[in-house]
Formats: sequence, structure tokens, C-alpha cells
Amino acid sequence: MKAMQVTLSVAIAATLCAALVQAKPGTDPRNEVYAEKFSKQYNSWKATESSSEIEDALEGDPNLVILWAGYGFAKDYNKARGHMYALTDVRQTLRTGAPMSPDEGPMPMACWSCKSPDVARVIEEKGEAGYFKGTWASQGHEMNNTIGCGDCHDKGSPKLRVSRPFAARGFEAAGMPFDKASRKDKQTLVCAQCHVEYYFEKTEGRKGFVKFPWDGGTNVEAMEAYFDAIQFADWEHGLSKAPMLKAQHPGFETWRMGIHGKNDVSCSDCHMPRVEENGKKFTDHKVGNPFDRFEFTCGKCHEQSKEMLQAVTKQRQEAVAEIKLRAEEQLVAAHFEAAEAWKLGATDAEMKDILTDIRHSQWRWDYAIASHGVAAHAPDEALRVLGTAVSKAADARVKLAQLLASKGHAGPVAIPDISTKAKAQAALGMDMKKMEADKEKFLKTVIPQWEAKAAEREAKMK
Ligand code: HEC
Ligand code: HEC
Ligand code: HEC
Ligand code: HEC
Repeated sequence: MKAMQVTLSVAIAATLCAALVQAKPGTDPRNEVYAEKFSKQYNSWKATESSSEIEDALEGDPNLVILWAGYGFAKDYNKARGHMYALTDVRQTLRTGAPMSPDEGPMPMACWSCKSPDVARVIEEKGEAGYFKGTWASQGHEMNNTIGCGDCHDKGSPKLRVSRPFAARGFEAAGMPFDKASRKDKQTLVCAQCHVEYYFEKTEGRKGFVKFPWDGGTNVEAMEAYFDAIQFADWEHGLSKAPMLKAQHPGFETWRMGIHGKNDVSCSDCHMPRVEENGKKFTDHKVGNPFDRFEFTCGKCHEQSKEMLQAVTKQRQEAVAEIKLRAEEQLVAAHFEAAEAWKLGATDAEMKDILTDIRHSQWRWDYAIASHGVAAHAPDEALRVLGTAVSKAADARVKLAQLLASKGHAGPVAIPDISTKAKAQAALGMDMKKMEADKEKFLKTVIPQWEAKAAEREAKMK
């Protein structure tokens, strides 16, 4: 272990840095203003644009279309790429639709919350109620800068901060207030502002606010119990009609369950290492694959070779992918079987337990896989949770087989051809051509208007 020594020298460097630059209140969302003053951090931050590849997750695994039937993710879902693309991608995804006026849906303002330091600025200017008010399009012109300095730092300063009040409340609820956190924990909590599970509140007075469902704990069972207790559902499934939960990306929660989380190895130890170039030490802001800078990440603490550790990681990714697929196959079948049961006249009472099994199974599957990187962060936990997902889907299917038999249905329920994304979407009767054409129009007409307004606002900033 070489960690102690590294931690110490990093601590001294940052204390010096923090003393040199005074923090000012507020948020300057414009990343470019720091290009000269903090050139190494700025340039490495900007280099996240090299992770530009768009990988269509629905194309790669059409089961997802069925699992998310009736919900936005069935329209369009790409794998994560560099932070430089966060704003571009949320504008482009079919999930945010094609709102031609400020009061058109389908999404609420909350959907900007993990995309831009402008979120922090608008909350400072209008309060949370002002920020969370209205549709996603209503304040689209306020959002003009991708994830950057202001998301993680005090204005003009290297000092780390939590820039979102809802994240601060989440950390508080889970017993780790940011102000009292250690330096290591802060390096993780800045990421946990976004790489966590959250939902949009439905209570009067706080409608559309982002909340982390951590009041009872951060593991998969605790969050499931939390959502059940408040009878929360993100949507009703298009086939089974189950009241579904969509896991977002509980990366922080799953990291905590893994060996590195338990040993206080922070997100930045692996994704934003302290590096040395031309004799100068700084934090590499190119958040990406830790193996790209092996000597400054894993290699700081481990004696094993890059090849060996990469092979271990790959093996874990393959193991998780295998069980994930098994859970999906069970769940896809369960959704179609439940749809068939409804067709044959099943009652709410007959379906209730079955739909709860489906809800719990899919939540657990989603919790495990939507927390990107889980196979590297907490492979044991991922496999455990996926195991419970398979078993709960099996419970649903046993009950469904009995129910279907009692309604006179014999043999397996036919599943349509869902072998490609297009076929799966067609099986659900989704009109993709129209959605795509509308989006095209939105991008050509509305986005330039938002950008013009933003340019006007930013020209007045000092
Ligand atoms: C996702 C969060 C995040 C973003 C975005 C971010 N930083 Fe950082 N920054 C960090 C972390 C973590 C550290 C390391 C803190 C520590 O050492 O404890 C750091 C350290 C720094 C330091 C201290 C010197 C050093 O290299 O360690 C400076 C200066 C800095 N960042 C500037 C910037 C600038 C300028 C931007 C925008 C271009 C930016 N940061 C964007 C998280 C972030
Ligand atoms: C303000 C919200 C926010 C913060 C803070 C944040 N992220 Fe992200 N992160 C995102 C979003 C959104 C994406 C997906 C961007 C896209 O695909 O358009 C992402 C993508 C990523 C990726 C995938 C990059 C790639 O090239 O594939 C990694 C890794 C990552 N984040 C790690 C981190 C780490 C580590 C931290 C803390 C140092 C952090 N993030 C802080 C929102 C955030
Ligand atoms: C011990 C090192 C380590 C720590 C600590 C760590 N990660 Fe990772 N992370 C990895 C590795 C390795 C990968 C997989 C890279 C690959 O092979 O694609 C990964 C993958 C990811 C991904 C998925 C990237 C993608 O494009 O699919 C995200 C997002 C991510 N990590 C965020 C985080 C966050 C947030 C934290 C802290 C809560 C964190 N990581 C802590 C090593 C680490
Ligand atoms: C800051 C130090 C640190 C960094 C950076 C780090 N690790 Fe670790 N790693 C540890 C500690 C501590 C343990 C716990 C076991 C021990 O004490 O050796 C551990 C354990 C492991 C184990 C064995 C436990 C298990 O999961 O089966 C693997 C494999 C591993 N790390 C891979 C990696 C990889 C891959 C990276 C880079 C992506 C990495 N580590 C980065 C500190 C670190």
C-alpha cells in the first residue's frame, strides 16, 4: 500500500492552493472564464470531449425497450459519455421530447439537475421552488454550460462544494453532512451530487423537487422499502400495468458496498487522479476510464500489472452481464404474461402480488445495472442484487402460470419478435419516425433561440 504517502502530499498541495485563492459567493457557470487561471485543470476537464462515441444501449439490448414500455427510456437510451456532452445529450435525447413552447412537456425542470452549473446559479437566483417550477422547456434558455467547475467548486476557487441543496439534504439524511466530511469523503460526495439514485417528489409544495430516497438507508432493500412506503411509482408499465420504479444511477450507493468504498478509496482516486506532468502536480480533470492513467490510479496502491487488473475487471463485467441478461429474459416474459392475464379478465386483486413481484424484480435489476461501472465498483453486490431480481421475477411467473391456467390459457404466452430495437419498438406500437422528425425540428428552431438568450445574459456577466 502506497496510499498514505500519496494522500499526505495531496493534502498539503491543496491546502496551499486553497489559501492562495479566495472563494467568492455565488456561481459563475461559465467554464471558459477559468481557462487561463487554472489551465491544467481546465484543459484536462475539456479533454472529456474525447469520449465522444454514442453507444445506443437499446440497439445493443432490445430487451430494454420492453422493460421500459410506456416510459421515456423505451424511446431512446445511450450509454454515458464524457461530461462535455451532458448538455448536448439531454437536449438531443428523444426522452425530452420536442417542446415547441415553454409550457409543453413531457419532462419537468428537474431533468436539468445533473447537467449544468447553471442549475446552481438559477437556484441561487430563484430559490429551489423557482428552479423546479414548470416544464423542462420553460427555463431551457437558462441552461447553457455543461458540467463544470461550478458544480464541484466554490466560485473561482479550488475548494470543493456541494452546489445543489437537494444533494446537501440527501447527504444529511444519510448521516454524512458535507461540511463535516473528511477530505477523502468530499472527493466522493462531489460526484454523489449526480451519480446517485433520486426521484421527483409528488408532495404538494415540493412537486418536481429532486430527492434522494435515503431516509431509511442507501442499499437496494432500504430504498425499495422507502418507495413502497410512500407508494411511489415513476410510471405504469405499458404491458403488465405494474407500478414501476426507474433506478437512475446509484453509483455512489453501490460504490459504498464495494471493497474500495469500504476502504475510503474515493471516486477521484480512480477517475480524477493526482498526476504529475513536466514536474508539476495537479488533479487530472479528465473524468473517464481509470485504466487510461493506470500509474496514477490503480498503480498508486497496487503492485499488480495493468493487464492483470484489467483482466480481473473484464471478467467481473462479463459475469454481471450474464446474470443481468437472465434477469431481463425473466422480466420480459413476466410483462407479456401479465398483459395476457389482463386480456383474459384478471382482476386487480388477482394481479396485485404479481405486479409487486415484477416491480421489485425490475427495481433490483435496474439498481444493479443502471449504477454504471458497478462490475468494477461492487461486483459481489451487483451479483447478489441481480440474483434477487431473477428470483422475484420467477415468483411472479409461477403465480402468473397458475392465474393464466385458471383463466383457461394453456402453454407459454407468445412473445413477439423483439430481436432489434426497431422491432421491439414496433411491437409496442411506438411511432419513432414522428418522434424523430419532431426532435429534428425542435433542435433546429428552439435550441438556437435558447442559445441566443443565454448569450445575451452571459454577455452582461462580469
Ligand atoms: C466533478 C467535480 C469537479 C469538476 C467538474 C471540477 N473539479 Fe476541480 N477538483 C475536483 C476534485 C475532486 C479536486 C481534488 C480535490 C482534492 O484534492 O481534495 C479538484 C481540484 C481542483 C483544483 C486544485 C488543484 C488541483 O489540481 O488539485 C483546482 C484549481 C481545480 N480543481 C479547478 C477546476 C476548474 C477550473 C474546473 C472547471 C474547468 C474544475 N476544477 C472542475 C473536482 C472537480
Ligand atoms: C453535475 C452532475 C455530475 C457530477 C457532479 C459528476 N457527474 Fe459524472 N456524469 C454526469 C452525467 C450527466 C454523465 C453522462 C454524460 C453524457 O453521457 O452525456 C456523466 C458521465 C460520467 C462518466 C462516463 C464518462 C465516459 O467518458 O464514459 C464517468 C466515469 C463519470 N461521470 C464519473 C464522475 C465522477 C468520478 C465524478 C466526480 C469526480 C462525476 N462524474 C461528477 C453527471 C455528473
Ligand atoms: C477503485 C477504483 C474506482 C473507484 C474508487 C471508483 N471507480 Fe468508477 N470505475 C472504475 C473502473 C475500473 C470502471 C470501469 C472502466 C471500464 O472498464 O469501462 C469504472 C466505471 C465507472 C463509470 C461508468 C463509466 C462508463 O462509461 O460506463 C462511472 C459512471 C463511474 N465509474 C463513476 C464512479 C463514481 C461516481 C465513483 C465514486 C462514487 C467511482 N466511480 C469510484 C474504477 C473506480
Ligand atoms: C487509493 C488506493 C487504491 C486505488 C487507487 C485502487 N485500489 Fe484497489 N484496493 C485498495 C484497497 C485498500 C483494497 C482492499 C484490499 C487490500 O487492502 O489490499 C483494494 C482491493 C482491490 C482488489 C481486491 C479486492 C476485490 O475487489 O476482489 C482489486 C481487484 C482491486 N483493488 C482493483 C483495483 C483497480 C482495478 C483499481 C484501479 C481502477 C484500484 N484497485 C485502485 C486500494 C486502492
